[in-house]
Amino acid sequence: MTSEVVTETCLENYKYSFKSDILSGKVALITGGGSGICFTIAEIFMRHGCHTVIVGRKLERLQKSSETLTKATGVKCIPAQADIRKPVEVIAAVDKCLQEFGRLDVLINGAAGNFLCSLEDMSFNAFKTIQEIDILGTYNVSKVAFDKYMKDHGGVIIHITALLHLKGTLLQAHVGVAKSGIETLAKHQAVEWGPKGVRVMCVAPGPVEATEGFNRLTMGLTVEQINQMVPIGKVGTRQEMGEICLFLASDMAGQITGSTVIADGGQWMVSGDE
Ligand code: HXC
Repeated sequence: MTSEVVTETCLENYKYSFKSDILSGKVALITGGGSGICFTIAEIFMRHGCHTVIVGRKLERLQKSSETLTKATGVKCIPAQADIRKPVEVIAAVDKCLQEFGRLDVLINGAAGNFLCSLEDMSFNAFKTIQEIDILGTYNVSKVAFDKYMKDHGGVIIHITALLHLKGTLLQAHVGVAKSGIETLAKHQAVEWGPKGVRVMCVAPGPVEATEGFNRLTMGLTVEQINQMVPIGKVGTRQEMGEICLFLASDMAGQITGSTVIADGGQWMVSGDE
């Protein structure tokens, strides 16, 4: 089965809220950066002077996205094909980053798997697959980035999580377990790696429009319908998620580590009330 290569587009008429050089000269490795939220995180970082390496399983998509990002921002982005479940491939991706740029300042762990499935219908392999992509994948990339660069130079690691585990969301046990595990991992990493100058955080988006997750998980509801379920009256945008990560990756967030930034317009507190 061949999967369609979706063409990503960059933001139009981007307005700067932060100084455009706040990540100047830095390098970020972004898993899942070929599409969706993490594509836009890469774009926002690049618009602020940061070179990027985008990592994913689909080389053709990575190549297209890296060309689009470089064209829009004038900053270098290179693709690195890897399945984050496989340490050998993760090591090769981090090596590629270090060979190309000689540094790795920020790691965004955004690659994740998801589908809607009840516990009753879920196979052993389906549950295991999500733990392997989300928890082990996040662990693998963090470990390699730390071992090969951050333990000697410091850095910032941001895991993209979710809010599914806060209320035991239906049909999402596999992902809820994985994402809560990642938030636990972040606390341990923050404590153990803090003395080495590494800050570790999670960003937990709610529904974000124009993403694969939104399309898959909102079960046919429109953006307008979901907007009405959010206390602030609107779902998140990819730009908003990118700018939260930008802040966390910058020196402005120097005191923040081990935390999860919930970025869902308050939806988790009222979900189930509608
Ligand atoms: C039930 C399913 C399934 C489904 C796959 N499986 N899809 N079970 N319902 N819809 C089962 C398969 O049958 C198989 O089990 C096992 O899972 C592994 O599937 P594979 O396709 O062989 O694995 P793989 O090729 O590694 O793909 C993993 C994948 C991936 C997770 C299924 O293809 C995927 O879903 N990619 C989507 C990525 C995505 O949507 N990213 C956005 C995440 S959004 P058996 O027993 O048959 O062998 C996100 C945000 C969440 O994370 C928060 C939202 C609010």
